Amino acid sequence: MTKQNKALKDDINECLLVIDFGSQVTQLIARRLRELNVYSKIHPFQNINQKLLKELSPKAIIFSGGPRSVLDKNSPKISKIIYKLGVPILGICYGQQLLMFQLGGKINSKEKKSEFGRAYIKQKRKSKLLDGWFDKNFEEVWMSHGDHVSEMAINFKVLATSKNAPFAVVADEKRNFYGVQFHPEVYHTPKGKILLDNFLKISGFRRDWTMQSFYQDAIKNIRKKIGNNKVICALSGGVDSSVTAILLHKAIGNNLTCIFVNHGLLRKNEHFEVLKMFKDNYKIPLIYANESKLFLSKLKGITSPEKKRKIIGNLFVKVFQDYAKKMDDIKFLAQGTLYPDVIESISVNDGPSVTIKSHHNVGGLPKKMGLKLIEPLRNLFKDEVRKLGNELNLPNTFIKRHPFPGPGLAIRCPGEVTIKKIKILQNIDEIFIDQIKKYNLYNEIWQAFSVLLPTRSVGVMGDKRTYDYACVLRAVTSVDGMTADYFKFDQNFLSDTSTRIINEVSGVNRVTYDITSKPPGTIEWE
Ligand code: XMP
Repeated sequence: MTKQNKALKDDINECLLVIDFGSQVTQLIARRLRELNVYSKIHPFQNINQKLLKELSPKAIIFSGGPRSVLDKNSPKISKIIYKLGVPILGICYGQQLLMFQLGGKINSKEKKSEFGRAYIKQKRKSKLLDGWFDKNFEEVWMSHGDHVSEMAINFKVLATSKNAPFAVVADEKRNFYGVQFHPEVYHTPKGKILLDNFLKISGFRRDWTMQSFYQDAIKNIRKKIGNNKVICALSGGVDSSVTAILLHKAIGNNLTCIFVNHGLLRKNEHFEVLKMFKDNYKIPLIYANESKLFLSKLKGITSPEKKRKIIGNLFVKVFQDYAKKMDDIKFLAQGTLYPDVIESISVNDGPSVTIKSHHNVGGLPKKMGLKLIEPLRNLFKDEVRKLGNELNLPNTFIKRHPFPGPGLAIRCPGEVTIKKIKILQNIDEIFIDQIKKYNLYNEIWQAFSVLLPTRSVGVMGDKRTYDYACVLRAVTSVDGMTADYFKFDQNFLSDTSTRIINEVSGVNRVTYDITSKPPGTIEWE
């Protein structure tokens, strides 16, 4: 082995350790680092001990934000050995306050100096951490803090201040310890990624992490976890479950069987298209389970969005369990769960994150399932899954498909779900997507769909009175589904589409367009 190769091999696990103190956006730190070609590992603060630090041998460390006050007796702390490792540390929000507090600074929680949302910081001193910042007098950042640092720890200098954070950015440049009160990992801090990039430069990372490395690690981890056991994979035809299936197939071959469940809540002709798309491109064992009657009967009379989601989630699992029993020897259920599904469905680390909606594959699962879960994409965001799909040579027909939620049209049909409503919705949806394709807009839009409202309104057609359903068209742009903006169609598109829907779909006499972004709305209606 050449000297250079040996050095590379020795250093192969160049790792940045992110210590999680319970912030909702901790995964965004890891995501930004992946964008900057650095591999990171997130560990909850409770897990940090000498053994783990030795094992990981991190090249740098980031402390995440968190919901607590460092002044609370039981708030998350870590052993001070971390400060003796001699590696650069960046503390974010709670992480900055903890860094200051543990190194002898002071935190003030009494004086009302909170900042939530957009804030502006001014430079006090130059630093490598802020290279590329302050080409004007101030920079925009995103804050979310109640307490603030009121006295710096020894040897630290202030680099920038905001109105309510006198120590918005601090540094001890000898030890390469940095603290920022704001969140550089969120999009709303426009130059946040530059700051993280600077921190990586200061830490001397090689920057050779790519989606290819993720792919190789994922294959290794799947093999380790599954061994020679058999797996069923819930396939929906969307990019997440398709990537999951291909990844698993590469790792374990025909020990994988995919199951495509038709719950009767799919788009028009979707089950034909998905089956064809999959069979045309892959030779993976695939079972088609038509369970429409079962799902629709259990949804009868149910109007609450969360109840619908839970019923569908439980039925999915029941169907998988039934097939697993028939097939013998199945130990694992694989799903294409992504990070946004997780963060919106469960409360993480007892933090402030609340359940927004139970994504069927996370919050809707029963406690006892009899199958172990495997979710290789659980830490990724949608656009990263698409990149992984490219890495796996998935055809564009898979990669560029708009997302479609597990509970399907049930959550686009507020109120009770009936076969009649689903049929109307399928017809509206078909026209809307057809129009979008005709106008060449499909790839500009993150997701487009229709919602059938339970409300009926009076109309007049051909001199006759109508009393039919109203529908909503929704189309959004987004990067990762966590935030979204409504798509700005031109007037011709909207008029043309509305006319087609009213003329071609019976049972609808009014078309509206949803102009709500996320937040405050969510993308789906339920
Ligand atoms: P929301 O409505 O939460 O949607 O803003 C964000 C993205 O997630 C999709 N979505 C789901 N996907 N199972 C899924 O696989 C679900 O239960 C589910 N609910 C929402 C939604 O279509 C959008 O792309």
